[in-house]
Amino acid sequence: MKVLLSESEIRRGVRRMAEDIARHYQGQPLTILAVMTGSVVLLADLIRLLDLPLRVGVLQASSYRAGTTRGELTINYDLMPDVANRDVLLVDDIFDTGHTLEAITRLLAGMGPRGVRTAVLLRKQGRSEVALQPDFVAFEIPDEFVVGYGLDYRDQFRHLPFVAALSESDIARAAR
Ligand code: IMP
Ligand code: MG
Repeated sequence: MKVLLSESEIRRGVRRMAEDIARHYQGQPLTILAVMTGSVVLLADLIRLLDLPLRVGVLQASSYRAGTTRGELTINYDLMPDVANRDVLLVDDIFDTGHTLEAITRLLAGMGPRGVRTAVLLRKQGRSEVALQPDFVAFEIPDEFVVGYGLDYRDQFRHLPFVAALSESDIARAAR
């Protein structure tokens, strides 16, 4: 695997994004909703950098992806706090085609929040298939399959402290 973002680069990028978020919300109460499981590491780092009155909740989205391609999206709201009249920031690991965040944003909008914005660690270039653009992005990356800092391939590699691109042979080996 090839390291795309080192631990210290990620730290700087997440700090920059946290500063943008704090500047945007100006001390207003915020509900962070993290899309599990990919955003678990970003969530832990980001919330500790935000000096705002925060509520934190999670929801789960899974695409039943067999490997590196997208499947049908299922969203589980069981663990989610009430968002009515709250400013919500949806946090995810990566904006690829954008279908996941678009679908969640649309469903949240029907729950009466004050507003919904989105923040992602990574945005893959040239892949978006939706009109939605994430409001906060820490890093733009090329169109490669990446793992680490929460991102997985078949639930492996989430714990790596850096972000790395998997080669075809890495993928073949990890698929076993
Ligand atoms: P989207 O709906 O196509 O934007 O995909 C979003 C979801 O797909 C993310 O939350 C990830 O779980 C997964 N995903 C997309 N690209 C990658 C990748 O390069 N590595 C690992 N997971 C990815
Ligand atoms: Mg994910």
